[in-house]
Amino acid sequence: MYCTRNITDSIVWVGGSDRRLALFENLFPIPRGVAYNAYLILDEKTCLMDTADASIRQQFIENVFAALNGRPLDYLVVNHMEPDHCANIEELALRFPQMKIVGNVKTLNFIQQFYQLDLTNRFLTVTEKDTLSLGKHTLHFVFAPMVHWPEVMMSYEETEKILFSADAFGSFGAHNGTLFDDEIELDGEWLADARRYYTNIVGKFGVQVQTALKKAAALDIRLIAPLHGNLWRSHIDFILEKYQLWSTYTPEKNGALILYGSMYGNTENAANVLAFKLADKGIRDIQLYDVSNTHVSQLIAESFRYSHIVLAAPTYNNEIYPAMYNYLHDLKALNLQKRTIAIMENGTWGPLSGKLMSEFLQNIKDMTILEPKITIRSALNDSSLDQLEAMAQSIAESITQR
Ligand code: FEO
Repeated sequence: MYCTRNITDSIVWVGGSDRRLALFENLFPIPRGVAYNAYLILDEKTCLMDTADASIRQQFIENVFAALNGRPLDYLVVNHMEPDHCANIEELALRFPQMKIVGNVKTLNFIQQFYQLDLTNRFLTVTEKDTLSLGKHTLHFVFAPMVHWPEVMMSYEETEKILFSADAFGSFGAHNGTLFDDEIELDGEWLADARRYYTNIVGKFGVQVQTALKKAAALDIRLIAPLHGNLWRSHIDFILEKYQLWSTYTPEKNGALILYGSMYGNTENAANVLAFKLADKGIRDIQLYDVSNTHVSQLIAESFRYSHIVLAAPTYNNEIYPAMYNYLHDLKALNLQKRTIAIMENGTWGPLSGKLMSEFLQNIKDMTILEPKITIRSALNDSSLDQLEAMAQSIAESITQR
């Protein structure tokens, strides 16, 4: 049975949610599921804004047919050609032989790569100068390359002032009947999931997101309709502010994120002692995570959130402890920068992880490494307590002076 909701008098949400998928992109845990949004504009012409993932095909197709209520589908606008949104193009093309597919030159190229069915004569190529009139509604096209694929564009509907924003402003999380930002608790799990989604999916492309934000700033927007997560109508400034911080790699919290790897609990002990010393010095925003049992996507999201990061890891096969290395690899790949880092190594013989972590960070833009760095020999002793005190003092001063 169809499951739709009107987002305005003439625009229907026709997407769906998937709570069965364990890993988004086969990488990221999504315990709250994920939503694939699609929107149907009903005017003199009918126009669908994107499709959905193959996993919800049946629901999506039922929704589209129900919303059309017997009318043909005239246009499909493809804002993003990643399969979680484009998986039903061929299905729709077969079901609606008159349907035109609207996209840019790169979109067409990707369609030809993904689909064997020749859709070239159905394709309407647009540039940023073009508009598409549907009757009372008119669409403008705002290209947003690398947010988060090169062909991505947003569509702006001028009459209702809606920005169909593709992946931008999206989030993990299935819909619970609610669709809009004023129907959910923003500061809780939704914000955490929006941050984890942004930082891991789009985080690398801060410069390109900045370009897209500048284009969006020139538009009068009443509603943002992304391809994932909730729609934004009452708290647009809230999400724009978050995107401004995230895309400029500006921390949200002036505090300490302590990430530790620990084989037998000794490095964990040091991380705990450091955290208590920081609290004793008046620092309140402190978070500890074990890199071995926290998914790296969560570590990345928290790293975007915090100003100061402590890395504590054993040496392993003369290298950085693998779980910590995996985190560092993602940190670099996702382009995080402008952080202050404290480094703690542990080694029973030949400790090297501190030196290696420092060298790794020197290849990342605008990372400040705090002194002193700490070396633990197997387990804490009186001498290492003194070192931890010095490190806590250095971090606390740096946080307080920021
Ligand atoms: Fe939700 Fe870049 O796809």
